[in-house]
Amino acid sequence: MAAAATTDTQDGSQAVGVSSTSGRKELYASVASASHRKQFGQFFTPPKVAALMADWVTSRGAESILDPAFGTGILTSACMKCDGSRSYTAFEKDPLIVSYVQDDLKSRVTLYNFDFLTHKFDKKFDGIIMNPPYIRHREIEGYEKARGQISLDAKCIIPKSANLYIYFAVKALTLLSEGGRAALLIPGEWMSANFAASFKEYVVRSGALREVILFSNCSNVFDDALTTASILLCEK
Ligand SMILES: C[S@@+](CC[C@H](N)C(=O)[O-])C[C@H]1O[C@@H](n2cnc3c(N)ncnc32)[C@H](O)[C@@H]1O
Repeated sequence: MAAAATTDTQDGSQAVGVSSTSGRKELYASVASASHRKQFGQFFTPPKVAALMADWVTSRGAESILDPAFGTGILTSACMKCDGSRSYTAFEKDPLIVSYVQDDLKSRVTLYNFDFLTHKFDKKFDGIIMNPPYIRHREIEGYEKARGQISLDAKCIIPKSANLYIYFAVKALTLLSEGGRAALLIPGEWMSANFAASFKEYVVRSGALREVILFSNCSNVFDDALTTASILLCEK
């Protein structure tokens, strides 16, 4: 098993190393079957992209940070590297991947082995960092009620044809506090896909979108998936 590594941060606390978290990801990827990973939409954020997203989310001093699709925790680890003194909350539905999260990291995050999409929140967060699962509508099962609830809460209709990452993105933005910052890594298709039209309108209407980083079709952001990628940097 990969050893837990810690790094000194600017505030003098210790953060779990992003590279060791990345090692956990590799270990997990070597044991989990391709069909299991596909079922949960598991594609992992490269460390450099995680660092860029974490810098945006933490640089205005967020107190509470949410990672709704935790995986092995590379995004939360990247935030801790910027500043380990925040309060961290995370959701991860797959118990198998949770068993591969470093103990050191687990001890510093309130990690719920729950479904983010059906969970009812009674608080908002000043920072949200997320790489949600990519699951096509034909493979989505059991989220009819959640889709309706999220649409209602956000006043944004999520069509049945939407990929699951749209459900995550819409819900995540409803959980961002006034003045809070979010970084969302989602496929670049949201700017042109029919199923994302209402999401696009919702993001523009929210006034929260500050920057979109669009990776060119030639740069393969994920080592294990062929997809376009974009990062939405938002601030409410
Ligand atoms: C694209 S991966 C990203 C993992 C990690 N955050 C990263 O950036 O490398 C999405 C993660 O969300 C998890 N997931 C899928 N459906 C979920 C749900 N409904 N609630 C919470 N987590 C979910 C998957 O198991 C997977 O680990």
